[in-house]
Amino acid sequence: MKFFIDTANLSQIKEAQDLGVLDGVTTNPSLMAKEGINGELNIRNHYKAICDIVYDNVSAEVISTDYEGMIKEGNELASIDEKIVVKIPMIKDGIKAIKYFSSKGIRTNCTLVFSPGQAILAAKAGATFLSPFIGRVDDTNWDGIELIQQIASIYAIQGYKTEILAASIRNSLHIVKCAEAGADIVTCPLSAIMGLLKHPLTDIGLAQFLADHKKANA
Ligand code: G3P
Repeated sequence: MKFFIDTANLSQIKEAQDLGVLDGVTTNPSLMAKEGINGELNIRNHYKAICDIVYDNVSAEVISTDYEGMIKEGNELASIDEKIVVKIPMIKDGIKAIKYFSSKGIRTNCTLVFSPGQAILAAKAGATFLSPFIGRVDDTNWDGIELIQQIASIYAIQGYKTEILAASIRNSLHIVKCAEAGADIVTCPLSAIMGLLKHPLTDIGLAQFLADHKKANA
């Protein structure tokens, strides 16, 4: 399973990259706004700065909701760097745009996915990545992990090539559950990635090892 970081914050992206386990970055308009990035040129420069940190897979989302607008914007985003993946919402014109980009060899990430039916449609259109939002499904008292299992099962049966990119990850347990459920990728906040490191018995055990070494070498 690949690890993406779900942020537009450059220092967090660098920290995850330094850990050596990062395979990509996902952003969205809310995450860009959180970093105070606005205006066409600043947005372009920020995506370029992200691309300069990571090896590949930088999802940059279109703002347009009509087909022509998405094509124009997606082509502009894709021209920033070959690492850019055009992120497109799961709406009617979005599916048409995914089909267009797929035919042009431009990678896409179909976002705002909440049902297996939407997952089938995105795969049929040729999406490179599919982003089911598991935390937001959980927020509505449904089971986000079950959604990942269901999509993984359908994709395996049907032989769809679209990769399942589990998004809206809220904690480290979500990452473990997504791995079990068959997600190809998880995109997570830095805190959820770093949370995987933690276990109290690791800390206790290490303290004991160091204390014993110190005693033996006093
Ligand atoms: O990748 C999608 C993600 O940013 C949404 O996460 O926590 O806002 O539901 P969240």
